[in-house]
Formats: sequence, structure tokens, C-alpha cells
Amino acid sequence: MCRFDRMESNEGKEISGFSKMSKRDKIAWIAKNFLYENPIKIINEFAGFWHDNVEAQKLLDGFSENTLTNFPVPFGVAPNFKINGKIYAVPMVIEESSVVAAASNAAKFWLTRGGFKAHVFNTKKVGQVHFTYSGDKKKLFQFFQNIKTDLIFGVKHITAKMEERGGGVLDMELLDFTNREPDYYQLRAYFETVDSMGANFINSCLEEFGKLLQQKIRESPHFNDLEKDVEVIMCILSNYTPECIVRAEVSCAVNELGTFNNGEMGPEEFAARFERAVRIAHLDPYRATTHNKGIMNGIDAVVIATGNDFRAVEACVHTYACRDGTYRSLSECEVKDGVFRFWLDVPLAIGTVGGLTSLHPLAKRSLEMLGNPNARQLMEIIACVGLAQNFAAVRSLTTTGIQAGHMKMHLSNILASMQATADEEAEARKYFEGKVVSVAAVREFLEKRRTQNQS
Ligand code: MEV
Repeated sequence: MCRFDRMESNEGKEISGFSKMSKRDKIAWIAKNFLYENPIKIINEFAGFWHDNVEAQKLLDGFSENTLTNFPVPFGVAPNFKINGKIYAVPMVIEESSVVAAASNAAKFWLTRGGFKAHVFNTKKVGQVHFTYSGDKKKLFQFFQNIKTDLIFGVKHITAKMEERGGGVLDMELLDFTNREPDYYQLRAYFETVDSMGANFINSCLEEFGKLLQQKIRESPHFNDLEKDVEVIMCILSNYTPECIVRAEVSCAVNELGTFNNGEMGPEEFAARFERAVRIAHLDPYRATTHNKGIMNGIDAVVIATGNDFRAVEACVHTYACRDGTYRSLSECEVKDGVFRFWLDVPLAIGTVGGLTSLHPLAKRSLEMLGNPNARQLMEIIACVGLAQNFAAVRSLTTTGIQAGHMKMHLSNILASMQATADEEAEARKYFEGKVVSVAAVREFLEKRRTQNQS
């Protein structure tokens, strides 16, 4: 096998025309210039992850650019989710161990305690036309009021189909930001995009609004030449959709919560500890970030499985979590009059039609598995998985501690990586019960056992 010398210089590392190279040539070039490995070896390694079906691979390659191979991530399922009375087996795409197990566990816990309730408050999406205008403010605001309906009417050719489905442009407003940036104004528009996430639809409307606004001001006799010089800086949707909100909730009598830690912790103590843990996540951004990360473990996994844009969801959720100026927990807990109530309000701008949802064969299957929900139903399902994930994490943290469960998974992963047999696995599980698991400790355990068995 040929080993390439590590190059310290940047020589050969710049390239033009990379996108036009064949996939094999791209891999070979990367192997030579960045991995310092034999290109044949790397081509074979990467090709090992190519889809057998040429058409399926073509489809995947089309989702992105400069693709070398696929990056497989586990696609799991969390059964027993009772949401608004209906049982779901929820698809989850995630690489972190324990997440699907925790969601399944929480789903089963609440299955016998009334299940999850969820409700969508609104699905309003937002878009912005950012522009500058250096004239009389009053004149601009007055003019905007006069042309507002014309602007909305002016995008009918884009909105007609969406309106047939019950969506369209809801409203728009003019905002003055000149106290923070000279001459800067914003046209903020609100949209209903029904079952689609609506990014293309919104952006197309916004670009048209930008052009129309400019054109109408230029053609108006009310503005002088300086005022007519309106510059549209950019037109783009906002991923912050604080009104596109869904609530997921669970509740039961405190005494129905059961006991924890082998009966050592009763339901009242558990409820009080749990409630305090959520309060801590409200007052301390360090804890809030980890608390919300636990929620996003569940949310992202379903968002990805259903072909939605998890970066958009993440960006929005975290802005929402600090809407009052301090980053806080997304979930809330209340223990009152003998009732434990735990809920989550979360903005989720997602879709069940368009984009990857119908193009990616597994996203399509995920939606089918969920009974082909509409966007509102999918928002409810996703929020419930987030809440379940949060419940499972905070329950572990306030009872056994998180490591008890993680250690089991950690041990399984290490044993698998060391090709442990079924007998070795069973013995290791017994040996490591209550002990700290580390790669070194497991290796030592296996080596000892293997030498003993040889002699
Ligand atoms: C780990 O992925 C998520 C947790 O840290 C969440 C939490 O602390 O609430 C367990």
C-alpha cells in the first residue's frame, strides 16, 4: 500500500473546476491533497457507502453539491407515542445513543397516564424586505398605507395556488429602524403557507414586493428625486417565527407518577425535584442550554426523519428561548393541587409537502409511518417528542443521574467496537453494573478474560 508524504505547503490545494470533475476524480484529488492516502483505497472506502441503486444515488447526489459519498446516520423508531388520543410510532434520525431509547421510555410512561396533548396556536411565517430611504418619514408611512393592498395584489401571480390551498400573504407592516441604522426601513410581511414550509414561496413574494415598492415610489409624484432613490438591500424570509407555535403537554395526578430509585424516591419528592430542575433551567442560561439541547435531541431527530430543515428549526427555537432577553428553558413544569403538569411551547416552521419531504424516499416513508400528517399535525408530533425527550432527561437527572443509563449504552458501544462475543457481553454487563465504564477498563476486562480462557 502506498503512503503519501504529509505535505506542509498549500501547493496543489487550490483548484478550479472541482465541481465538474467525476466523483472518483474528486475523491482521488481529496485523497491526494488532504488525506495523504492512496487514492484507490479512499475511492474504495467512499464507494462502499454509495447506494447500490444508481438511480437512488443520483437522487441523493442531486440534493447537494460536490458529493463524494453518503454519510449514513441511524434511522430508528420510538413506538407508543399517544398524541391527542392517537398512537404513533415516530421515526427518528439521530446518531446519539440513548436518545431513541429515552423517547420510547417516556412515551411508554405517559401512554398509561393519558398520553400527550398537543395544540397548534398559529402557523404564521415571516419575511422581510430590507431597504433604505432617505426622505420624509411621514410621507413614506402614509404612502405605504396607500399602496399596501396594491403590493399584496401585485404578487397574485405567485400566491394564487397557495390561496387555493388556504394560504397566502396575511399582512405586512412598515418598520422604522433609522435610530439603529441610517435610512434603514423594513417591510415585514406575514404569510400562511399551509402544509409547506414555504421558503421559496415567501422569498419569491418578497423579491416581488421589493421591486414593486421601488417602482411605486419612483413613479409617485409625492416623492422628490432624493426620496425616489430607494435601495432594496435584501429580501429574505426570517427563520424567526415566534407566532408559529405549538404546545405539547402531559399531566397526571402526582401520586400516579410512581416511585423512583427502586422505591427510595416517592412521587411527591420526584415531582418537587423535577419542578425545581425546570425552574433552574429558567433562571440559568448555562443549564437552560443543556436542558434545551435535550429537547432538540428529540425535535431534530423527527425534523430530519421527515425531510425538514433542522438548521432553520434550531435557529428559530434558540432565538425564541431568549425572547425576553435571557436564554431560558423552553419547557415549564407546575405541581399544583396534587397535579403534575409539564409542557413545552415551541416554534416549528415545518412542512409535509414540498422540498425533501416528498423527494427523499425515507422522508416520504417517515411521513407515511406517521399517517401522512398535515403540517399542524406534524408540529404536534414533533413537539411531543421534544417534550418526551426532555421529560426522560430531567427524570434521569433528578433520580438516578444521567450516567446510569448512559453507561449501559456506552458499554454496548465499546463492546461492539471490540468485537465482544455474546458471552463476553453478558459477563461485562454483570461486571460493570454500578461501575464507571471507560474504553481502558473494558479493554482490560476483555483482555484478562480472553487470556484466562486461553490458558
Ligand atoms: C444529552 O444529549 C442531553 C442531556 O444533557 C439533556 C439534559 O441535560 O437535560 C441529558
